[in-house]
This record gives sequence, structure tokens and C-alpha cells, in this order.
Amino acid sequence: MKSVLVAGAAGFIGSHLVDRLLLRQEINRIVAVDNFWTGTRANLDHIADPRLVVVDVAVEDFQQGSLFDEIYHLASPASPPWYMQDPVRTISANVIGTMRLLTLLRAGGRFCFTSTSEVYGDPLVTPQPETYRGSVDCTGPRSSYDEGKRCAEALLFESNRLSGLDIRVARLFNVYGPRTRPDDGRAVSNFITNALFGKPIIVFGDGLQSRSWGYVSDIVDGLEQFFWGEEHGYIGPLNIGNDREISVVDVARYVAGLVPGTKIVHVDPIPQDPTNRCPDLTLARRIIPGWACQIPLEEGVRLTLDWFRHQQQNDLSSVSSDSMVAASV
Ligand SMILES: NC(=O)c1ccc[n+]([C@@H]2O[C@H](COP(=O)([O-])OP(=O)(O)OC[C@H]3O[C@@H](n4cnc5c(N)ncnc54)[C@H](O)[C@@H]3O)[C@@H](O)[C@H]2O)c1
Repeated sequence: MKSVLVAGAAGFIGSHLVDRLLLRQEINRIVAVDNFWTGTRANLDHIADPRLVVVDVAVEDFQQGSLFDEIYHLASPASPPWYMQDPVRTISANVIGTMRLLTLLRAGGRFCFTSTSEVYGDPLVTPQPETYRGSVDCTGPRSSYDEGKRCAEALLFESNRLSGLDIRVARLFNVYGPRTRPDDGRAVSNFITNALFGKPIIVFGDGLQSRSWGYVSDIVDGLEQFFWGEEHGYIGPLNIGNDREISVVDVARYVAGLVPGTKIVHVDPIPQDPTNRCPDLTLARRIIPGWACQIPLEEGVRLTLDWFRHQQQNDLSSVSSDSMVAASV
């Protein structure tokens, strides 16, 4: 039987990953470590499985007598407005969090980390293969997140080189779907939230900056196969995302089309907003064959909109309208 730790389990992706882990019968305990900075208790409320234990603590401070067979480190905000608000805390979650969690891994255990396409910065190469070293401004407004992830990757790859630590490092591209906070601040959820509240959708600049939008179930399928699926022996980094590149303004138009009467308003561009982002999935197709994103953006946005509509009565009413104005990706 296996004992598993998931840091960031109450977050958007973490909660979906916990659902998948609970399908594994050889796991007898999942410790969900989360300080509810950007995550919510509601994301785990649907789980009644006694194997799940939720601990409300920052990952850097988590103390535990016993060690874990598998550790999944997702504890970090992913949304620019959130990580920019508290950059030191963001660096700490990624870097100190990784160092702390490494001490909790049983010998021979596996450490899985969700890194990001932001390690490529504002890329000069597109699509971005894992070999691309990136174009990150280490003093810029996004640096806490980008460099926090880069440093955590360095810690893990060095640990693998030094002691043979079994690691899996995934680089996720933009993910969207149910269980995103209404005030998360990223494009799809903000566009939907604004539209549902009868507010205009705010697009930074001309909106021609592109992203690859991965629906959460597709991305978690990829994580499942890479992190604990059939043995492939590859430690990472591995791009996991949707390689259909779509501009921000096209997503805004699509959401506006689903909620009649919604207007789109353009405001000044935000500094250092990457112009494009698209994964090169050549390696992913080799390492986790059979995996591919199945949900087209149009369907994923509709599913997400349905979920937000359902939540609207409970969750959205507690969010101030000021926090729902602009989106960042
Ligand atoms: N969502 C995306 O598009 C995306 C893209 C690339 C990478 N990622 C990575 O995936 C992971 C999950 O992202 P997400 O979208 O679910 O974000 P999220 O903000 O919804 O979830 C992060 C979770 O970590 C928790 N957390 C943050 N700092 C913590 C700390 N110090 N101690 C304990 N808990 C802490 C938050 O409360 C939250 O529950 C992150 O590591 C993120 O960098 C996400």
C-alpha cells in the first residue's frame, strides 16, 4: 500500500489530480497539504473517501513523522494577479516548498512537480520544445513565478543527478475548466465570470497574444500517464498542454457569443505579457503515446460556463465585482 502527499490539493488542478489518485486502490492514504491561499475547501468537499486527510498548512512548514511513497507538488498560485501580489510567497512555495517536501520522500519514492510553460518566458521560438531554454526576465514582474519554477526544476534535476532521485517534471501550458476561482484572474474564467455578471469582458491590448488552452480533464489525463502511468523511464521536463493555439480575443469573442449581450472592451496591454505560447508535443507523443487533448476549446468553454452557472448562486455571490474586471494569462 502507498502513502501519498499532494501539496496544493485544494487548488484547481490539484483537486482534479486528487480525484484521479483516489481511483488507485493501492493508495491507502492521501495527505492533502494546502494553506488555502488560492485554493478552496469547496474543491475537495465532494470527496467522502476516508483515505483523504486535509492539512491546512503552508507546504514549507509541513511537519510529518512518516515519509511518503509519492509526492505531488502543485502548491503555487498559477494566476499572474495572484502570484504578482505576493512574489516572495510564490518563490517560497516553489523553492522552499520543494526543499521541504524532498525531506519527506521515502527512499526509492517518486517526486512529481508541476512546472510551467512560463519557464520559456516570452518565447522567441514557437512552438516551444523542452530543449528551448527560454527568454525570462529575472527582474521582471513575472519573475517570482517563472524563476521560482526554474529554481525548483533545478533542485529536482540536481537531486536526480546527485542521488538518483526518481522525479517527474511536467511543464503545463494554460489550463482551464471547472473549479477555477471566479476571481482567479485568468482569461477563460474571468471572461465567463464577467459575462455571467453582465459586465464587459476586458481584453489587454489587441488580444492577438495567443495561448494554447488545455481543458483540465485532458491535462490531468496527461499528468496521470506521465506521473504514474505505464513505466517510460523519462524524468522530464515534459510539455503537457493543448497545441491548438488560439488568440485571447478569439476566446473572448467565443464567450461573448455564448452569453448574449456581452461586450468586449480593450484596455492597455500588461507589461511583459508573452506574445505567444504553444507546446511542442513531439516528446509527449513519444513518452505518453496515446495521450492527446480530446476536448476542443469550444466544448471546454461551454462545460466551464455550465459549471460557473451552477456555482453562480453560491460562490460568485461572495466575490466582489471589482475583483472580476480584468483577466491575465
Ligand atoms: N493552471 C494553469 O494554467 C497552470 C499552468 C502551468 C502550471 N501550473 C501549475 O500547476 C499547479 C496548480 O495550478 P492551479 O492552476 O491549480 O493553481 P491554484 O492556484 O488553483 O492551486 C494552487 C494551490 O496551492 C495552494 N498553495 C499555494 N501556495 C501554497 C503553500 N505555500 N503551501 C500550501 N499550499 C499552497 C493554493 O492554496 C492552491 O490550493 C501550480 O504549481 C501551477 O504553477 C498551472
